[in-house]
Amino acid sequence: MCGIVGYIGSQDVAPVLLNGLEKLEYRGYDSAGISALENGEITTIKSKGKISDLRKKVKFEYEGHAEIGIGHTRWATHGKPSDVNSHPHMSYDGKFSVVHNGIIENFVTLKQDLKNEGISFASDTDTEVVAHLLAKYYNGDMKQTILKVLSKIEGAYSLGILCADKPEEIWAVRNASPLIIGLGADENFLASDITAVLKYTKNIYQLNDGEFACLKKNSVQVFNPAGEPIEKEVVAITWNVEAAEKGGYEHFMLKEIMEEPEAIRKTVSPRLGENNEIILDDFTLTKEKLESFKKIYILACGSAWHVGMVGKYVIEELTRIPVECDLASEFRYRNPVVDENTLAIVISQSGETADTLAALREAKSRGARVLSIVNVVGSTIANESDDVIYTWAGPEIAVATTKAYSTQLTIIYLFALYAAKLMDKIAPEEYDAIIAAIQKLPEQIEQILQMKDEIKALASRYAFLEHAYFIGRNLDYAVALEASLKLKEISYIHSEAYAAGELKHGTISLIEDDTFVCALCCCERLYDKTMNSIKEVAARGAETLAVLTDNSPNPGEECDFKLVIPSTHELVMPSLEVIPMQLLGYYIALARRCDIDKPRNLAKSVTVE
Ligand code: F6R
Repeated sequence: MCGIVGYIGSQDVAPVLLNGLEKLEYRGYDSAGISALENGEITTIKSKGKISDLRKKVKFEYEGHAEIGIGHTRWATHGKPSDVNSHPHMSYDGKFSVVHNGIIENFVTLKQDLKNEGISFASDTDTEVVAHLLAKYYNGDMKQTILKVLSKIEGAYSLGILCADKPEEIWAVRNASPLIIGLGADENFLASDITAVLKYTKNIYQLNDGEFACLKKNSVQVFNPAGEPIEKEVVAITWNVEAAEKGGYEHFMLKEIMEEPEAIRKTVSPRLGENNEIILDDFTLTKEKLESFKKIYILACGSAWHVGMVGKYVIEELTRIPVECDLASEFRYRNPVVDENTLAIVISQSGETADTLAALREAKSRGARVLSIVNVVGSTIANESDDVIYTWAGPEIAVATTKAYSTQLTIIYLFALYAAKLMDKIAPEEYDAIIAAIQKLPEQIEQILQMKDEIKALASRYAFLEHAYFIGRNLDYAVALEASLKLKEISYIHSEAYAAGELKHGTISLIEDDTFVCALCCCERLYDKTMNSIKEVAARGAETLAVLTDNSPNPGEECDFKLVIPSTHELVMPSLEVIPMQLLGYYIALARRCDIDKPRNLAKSVTVE
């Protein structure tokens, strides 16, 4: 997704902007650019490709020493990736430079109107409309001009704006696309994401939808949508730059896999009180309210939806409330049966995923109570939910999620246990047994991480696969979905996940000599059933790999290869069995020399539909 940076202070602006843009690279982009304002003139340099290409261009083409500027990484939506379509975009009179994240939905009409007035366009982007509108309505007063332009544009956007007449101001606007302001000493920053400013400051303002701000060297003034000045709370970031960098690992993804035990500890420990009591901060769902729910919808996208699939089994099992796990992108466009007796659980790492947010709003508008499970504090999904339980996974940089997925799972267990206990649906011994299993997860994951060389060796065997199938039943099936996505998104191998019982209803016709089938067989109750499926595909020539627990009755005799991991309570087993699958995906992608942290065509935070 696009990224915005901005700086005003006493440093040379170009290096600050370029450093900030590098920190946003992980969000996914195809071009980048900066604008610097000096002596009443805006200089803009843009380049298709990597930040390193832009860096070279800036070195050769820019000799100034401006101390104010804005920058952008673009992920193409309107118009192909090119130098011209890259941001910043200039107004027809050269007075305004604009960077934009999101989509201006009514840009076609606005563009036509502007063209009719004789204004010509340099790019194919929706953003350029904003630059021209600013020039058109400019009356010397930036606040009034911005309010006028905002009244004309529709859509989801955040904006960074420079005006050549205002060498001491950057303006920022947020509407449904993340934007923060970094507060420094005699300098201030603008960014889509905290990682871009962490090197300089840990104090930020989180802008809410509709708010806009004027950044000066020594002050920041934030306004509400009506243009009235408001006070913002300073949020102090507790994690540091190293936490957002690779820390010696070849890839963020591997670092983040290795961080999983710690991330789970951080997410769980502060929430367990005396006598295994679960403490969910700022959680307002009472026993009566929980008992009033006739149905739970879990709404999410991608891996977060896979967490929801685990959640369906776990929450239904423990609370006996029916749970439906729906893809947010589907839910938002159907006519779901939702009312005030519905709880919507919304899961999102970024808290900004457009479809998930739309599903949240859809559920809320029909009366549902919304509980979200989110990693990014202060994100839109968190802000719009009735209750939030944060996953304390820290920043996740690799596009493919790992530690966020694992911490989301832990929150699902904690919530299900909390609700079941409050509603008197769980025996104390069962409750204590599951809590004990959750507490043991970090240590058991550490054990599994030590299997990485074994998994790496297996991965070299699978480096040239063209197709892969992952099968399992119940919770094993939910993990198979994630295992398959992990492999395909980073290694580009075609991969599918099936409920093992579904194979014989069609898919088994694809199995031929050497087809790779990985079976998740960690659910001991269903071990024999899944083993039968393995025998069926093996009889048709498949090469099989099974993931089993050390408690399995006859550990995988029927399989070509097996990975044996520690066992735990059945309901929390997904947290263990996903780890070898993340490592397998990672090492296969490594063997294929893929761009693991930034897979092609993907973005970390999908803030457009
Ligand atoms: C896959 C992955 C994605 C995200 C999905 C939702 O590894 O990371 O499938 O899970 O885009 O993103 P969030 O959780 O930010 O809503």
